[in-house]
Amino acid sequence: MSESAVPGDFSASENSNLDYWLKAWKENRIGFHRSDVSYLFKTYLIPKLLTATEQKCVVFPLCGKSVDMMAALDAGHRVIGIEGGVAPVEAFFSENKIAYEIEKDANNQCEIYKGVDRPVTIYRADFFAFNKDLPPVDYIWDRGGLVAVTPTTREQYRDCLRRMMTPGRTELFLVAIVYEDPTFSGPPHVLNNDHINELFGSDSSIEFVIKQDETKEFNARFINRSIQHIEEHLYSIIRKQN
Ligand SMILES: C[S@@+](CC[C@H](N)C(=O)[O-])C[C@H]1O[C@@H](n2cnc3c(N)ncnc32)[C@H](O)[C@@H]1O
Repeated sequence: MSESAVPGDFSASENSNLDYWLKAWKENRIGFHRSDVSYLFKTYLIPKLLTATEQKCVVFPLCGKSVDMMAALDAGHRVIGIEGGVAPVEAFFSENKIAYEIEKDANNQCEIYKGVDRPVTIYRADFFAFNKDLPPVDYIWDRGGLVAVTPTTREQYRDCLRRMMTPGRTELFLVAIVYEDPTFSGPPHVLNNDHINELFGSDSSIEFVIKQDETKEFNARFINRSIQHIEEHLYSIIRKQN
C-alpha cells in the first residue's frame, strides 16, 4: 500500500484506484464536484421521490460530497453513500450542517458515518471491498462512479452494484459519459451504449433515458482542461426477475 493509500483501518483492494482519488481530494482537484443539484437528478429522480407514498432508500456509490444526496434527504428519503475518502465524507456532513457519529466496523473494513437527526449513512470504504448488507434499495444514483473507475475493473464494479440490486425493485440510474477527444482519456472514462449492454444486458432491462450536452459545464468546472464535446447519457437499469 502506498503512502497515500486509505488512512484508517482498511487497505484498498487490488481493483481499487483509490489512491488517485485521495490525492485529488488532498490537492483539491475536484472539478467533478457540482455545487448545485444536477439537472438529471432534479429532472428524473426528484419527481419520483416527491410523489413516493413511503420512504425510499437511495444509494449513492462513490458519492464524494455530492449535493444530490442532500436533495434526496430534503425530499424525505433515506440516503446511503459509499465513499473511500475521509475528506469528502466529513465535508458532506459539515457543509450541510448535519451532526454525525462514527462507528468503526473492522470486520467489514469500513467506518460508518451516521447522521444524528437525518436518515443519512455514509460508509467510508473501498467500494470494491464493500460487503455490508444494506436495507432493500429502491434507487441507486451512479454519477461519477462507474465512469470514474479504471475501465478494466468495470465488471467487478458492476458486480458490486448488482449485489445491492433487488431484481424487479431497485432502479439503477446510471450517468454515462461519452466524448471523442484525442487529447483526453479520462477519468471520466467513456462509457457508451455498447459498454452498458455488455455489462448489464445479460440479466437486466436497460432503458436509455436522455442525453445532454455537458461541454460548457465540464470545461467551466475543470479549469486546466478543455474538451471538444462531452455528453452525459442517463440510463435506467433494472435487474430482471428470473
Ligand atoms: C468522480 S468522483 C464523483 C463523486 C460524486 N459521485 C459526484 O458526483 O460528485 C469519484 C469519487 O469516488 C471516490 N472513489 C474512487 N474510487 C473509490 C473506491 N474504490 N471506493 C470508494 N470510493 C472511491 C473518490 O474519492 C471520489 O470522491
